Amino acid sequence: MSVAGDMALPARAALRSATRAAHLRLHAHPTLAALAAGTIAAPQYSRLLGRLYGFHLPFERALIEAALGHGVDLRIGARAHLLTRDLLDLGASGESIARLPMAEAPALSEPGEWLGALYVREGSSLGAAFLAAALDPLLGAGCARGRRFFSGGETEDWRLCCAALEAGAARGLLPAMIHGAQASFHALEHWLADHE
Ligand code: HEM
Repeated sequence: MSVAGDMALPARAALRSATRAAHLRLHAHPTLAALAAGTIAAPQYSRLLGRLYGFHLPFERALIEAALGHGVDLRIGARAHLLTRDLLDLGASGESIARLPMAEAPALSEPGEWLGALYVREGSSLGAAFLAAALDPLLGAGCARGRRFFSGGETEDWRLCCAALEAGAARGLLPAMIHGAQASFHALEHWLADHE
C-alpha cells in the first residue's frame, strides 16, 4: 500500500481521527464545498486563494522558523508562493496581492505541536489533489495555470512527514502533536469563517 493510503501508521491514524470533525466542517464551508463540487465561480475562487494565502504564508514561515531556529528536523517545502502565482494567473495585480490581510500563525510552542501542524499542512495536499481536479470546469482540463497551489503536494514530502510523525510519537510527543494539529485546523476554520 502507498504511504498516502497507509492508515496502519498509528500516529497518522490518531491525528486523522482527532481532527476528523474539523476536517468535515471544512468540507461544509460554502466556498470549499463549491470548489469540491466543481461549481465555483472565478471571483469566488480568487477570493478563496487570497484568503488561503493570508493563512498559509505566516503558517509556512512559522514552521520554517521553528525548524531552523529550534533544530527540529522538519522538511518544509515552500508552497504559499504558488498561491500568488495562481492569483496572478487569474488576473490579480501584484499590488492587490501585497495588500491581502495576513492571519496570525497558530501559536505552536513545542516540537510536538509543530509536528501536528506539519501533519495538517502536508495532509491537506492529499485532499487538494481532488480539489485541483474539480477545477476543470473553471480553468479547463489539463491547464496548470490557476491551480498550482492545489496541485503542489509532493509524494516525497508526505512520506517524510509520515515518517516524522511516527518518530515523534515514538518519543512520546503524540498528545502535543494532536494539540498542534487541532490548533492548526481551528486557526484555519476561524480564518475562513468570515469568508463566504
Ligand atoms: C472541501 C475541502 C476538502 C476536501 C474535499 C478534502 C478531501 C480530502 C480527502 C479526500 C483526503 C484523503 C486523501 C487520500 O487519502 O489520498 C484528505 C486528506 C486530508 N485533508 Fe482534506 N479536504 C479538504 C480540505 C482540507 C483542508 C482545508 C485541510 C487543512 C488545511 C485538509 C486537511 C487534510 C489532512 C490533514 C488530510 C490527511 C488525512 C489523513 O491522515 O489521511 N483538508 N482530504
